[in-house]
Amino acid sequence: MKTILTGLRVNSELTIGNYLGALLPMVRLANKYNHDYNINIFVPDLHSIISEVDGDLQKNILRSIKVYFAAGLEVNENVHIYRQSYVPAHSELCWILNCVASMGELSRMTQFKEKSEGKSSVNAGIFTYPVLMAADILLYDAEYVPVGEDQFQHLELTRNLAFKVNNKFDKPIFTPPVKTEKQVEFMGLKNGVRIRNLVDPEHKMSKSSRSENSKIMMSDAPEVAAKKIMSATTDSVGKIEFDMFNQPGISNLLQIEALVNDVPLQDVISTWAGETHYGDLKRKVADSVKAMLEVFQARVDEISDETILEYLLAGEEYANIVANRKLLEVQKAFSLR
Ligand code: TYM
Repeated sequence: MKTILTGLRVNSELTIGNYLGALLPMVRLANKYNHDYNINIFVPDLHSIISEVDGDLQKNILRSIKVYFAAGLEVNENVHIYRQSYVPAHSELCWILNCVASMGELSRMTQFKEKSEGKSSVNAGIFTYPVLMAADILLYDAEYVPVGEDQFQHLELTRNLAFKVNNKFDKPIFTPPVKTEKQVEFMGLKNGVRIRNLVDPEHKMSKSSRSENSKIMMSDAPEVAAKKIMSATTDSVGKIEFDMFNQPGISNLLQIEALVNDVPLQDVISTWAGETHYGDLKRKVADSVKAMLEVFQARVDEISDETILEYLLAGEEYANIVANRKLLEVQKAFSLR
């Protein structure tokens, strides 16, 4: 059976960018394909420690899994939930892939550039972070990896590393994830998702942004979130069109509206095309986001820590078996075994 896999760091609360860009698409895919695919949902806790963690990492981990359930995840025997650091093969394969990846390709990663910009000292984990991500994916031969657009470059790197290893040994050791265009198609989208900063829509919405109005956290009071949408930056064009280049603020609102209601972006664009009242669109999106948060927040604490731990233990048993089998294959190829 093929595998669909994704992970979200748990350094702080999630934004609706994380939620709409990665988590919700993953849950929708999982529920659609959980009879035909392995569904691997893991917490990249080793990725979390590359930077400061807000609050207690252990608590954040449990909460982040509850979020999948609050988003509607249905579980059966094909759905596997695990913590990265409980499957040591991830770090082991990361080391081996570090010896395959080049400094040049890692230096080109936009996220590395962004995270290291202007800093006098940067930890090496930030540099090799995409290699660990590649290990997370390749250990399970995951072909589909639903992530937001900002992670596409890392997916391409994962593909390159898989091809490099396969070519080195002249045999298919790894299954490379499919190309990003195909990933997007599989997610039922036309383009990768990048939810924008509400104040400065040229940039992506980010947890680390200092302006509270620029981001909606999944824990925001629904009323507060609605106000943030109402005050989102738009433009002076005066006509509603989907044009991320010239009208990023308006386009962002159309994108949010489509994802929240699980309708094709094209339908939302057609509904609003040519309308001139930005306030009407804002009100509609504010209502949608408010309703989504109300349902989500009511559900998030319904599931107990004990139940989550049970899922984790079962998931980690499964993940260790699959990952160790792949690791051994790689170790043999490299003559380490
Ligand atoms: P992370 O934790 O930064 O983000 C989690 C997911 O949220 C998406 N995302 C967004 N999508 C749309 N608009 C935004 N504004 C936005 N902000 C964040 C990200 O694209 C991501 O999908 N390296 C990963 C975690 C990871 C992983 C993996 C993912 C580690 N190993 C293996 C998949 C497979 C990360 O830091 O995502």
